[in-house]
Amino acid sequence: MATTNDSPNQDPGFEAWLSALRGRDYDRGVSLPGAFYTDANWMRRERDALFLADWVCVGRIDEVASPGDFFTFDHVGEPLLVVHGRDGVIRALANVCRHRGTVIADGSGNARKFLCPYHHWAYDTTGQLLNAPHLDAHETFDRAGCRLPEIRLETWLGFLFVCFSDTAPELAEALAPLEDVIANYHLEQMSLRYLADATWQTNWKCLLENFMEGYHLTPLHRDTLHKVNPSRLCRHLSPGELHFGYSVGFAERVGDARIGHPDLSDAELDTCVMFAVPPGLCVGVGSDYSSFLCLRPHEPGSVRVKMGLIFHGDDWRDAEIERAIGLFEQTMDEDKQVLVRVQQGLGSRFHAPGPLAGRDLEGTIWDFYQYLGRRLGGVTRDSTPEDLS
Ligand code: FES
Ligand SMILES: [Fe+2]
Repeated sequence: MATTNDSPNQDPGFEAWLSALRGRDYDRGVSLPGAFYTDANWMRRERDALFLADWVCVGRIDEVASPGDFFTFDHVGEPLLVVHGRDGVIRALANVCRHRGTVIADGSGNARKFLCPYHHWAYDTTGQLLNAPHLDAHETFDRAGCRLPEIRLETWLGFLFVCFSDTAPELAEALAPLEDVIANYHLEQMSLRYLADATWQTNWKCLLENFMEGYHLTPLHRDTLHKVNPSRLCRHLSPGELHFGYSVGFAERVGDARIGHPDLSDAELDTCVMFAVPPGLCVGVGSDYSSFLCLRPHEPGSVRVKMGLIFHGDDWRDAEIERAIGLFEQTMDEDKQVLVRVQQGLGSRFHAPGPLAGRDLEGTIWDFYQYLGRRLGGVTRDSTPEDLS
């Protein structure tokens, strides 16, 4: 149903909203108007100011472990190719032919070269043009200088990030405060044993918010996660410029029985750390295994998500891995179903911003809004909406 001009869900004055919430205390937090989640123009702003400006996680280094390994994906409308070159360097390349623009590679796999299906221009695994049939006589074509455009790529704790901005600071530097918190878990040594791709019918922010708040763990996941990590054990962590998160303890103390890196303290062994590097990455860090999501917005009401599980050490039986995968899939399915309903409600004319629970339970959502405010809010706070309370 279309919204009307008097609908509370009509254009809320996006920048003004974000400006008004900047610097507000956690105990005065409110959710965003529905239009933030349903408006196509606003999503274009998010694409430009977030997904084409910040560092965005696109996967794990294990996906391109060997020379020639590659995977392709759509990054907010940009066809990209991540490939481990046969020169040993992992690159993000535009997956767009330099002849007449055809998308070159599909899916994932291992390649010696990439052949455009249209006229068979060929590129090597570094992006350099190898062959362009029947172009030898062309007078101005610079064959030697022809290569697929390269996008900045950095690896952080085994996660691959791309960045379209030339001026964004180095990723490792920006995430140093977060690394201080999670260093002992050694995510960079964990190995990928489960990977799935899916499309969820919800706004990308709903999925990020869902993964990043502990308020729903007990009520929504009563038969799954609640038994392991209940809402009452959630504790907010101090946010940084490019991250936010919370920790959650275990329902039963299991320190002695848990496996994990020897650097971990007993307290760390008994704690999960949930963190986000917005706009694209959410991670649930555990000593034994960790889960992650890479978000790729498609439309205001749909997001593609790459989901994975990474495990510490090699001493895992298949049944144990299957049990971890089963818990993850069941939990994600519970989230997926409720987020369809969230998206439906956000489109209603009767939806209005509601109060957020306290800092330990939904403080991370407030942190996320603060990030949006820094990136997308107006410069001044003069235009504070009267009803932001
Ligand atoms: S568009 Fe790729 S070879 Fe022609
Ligand atoms: Fe959940």
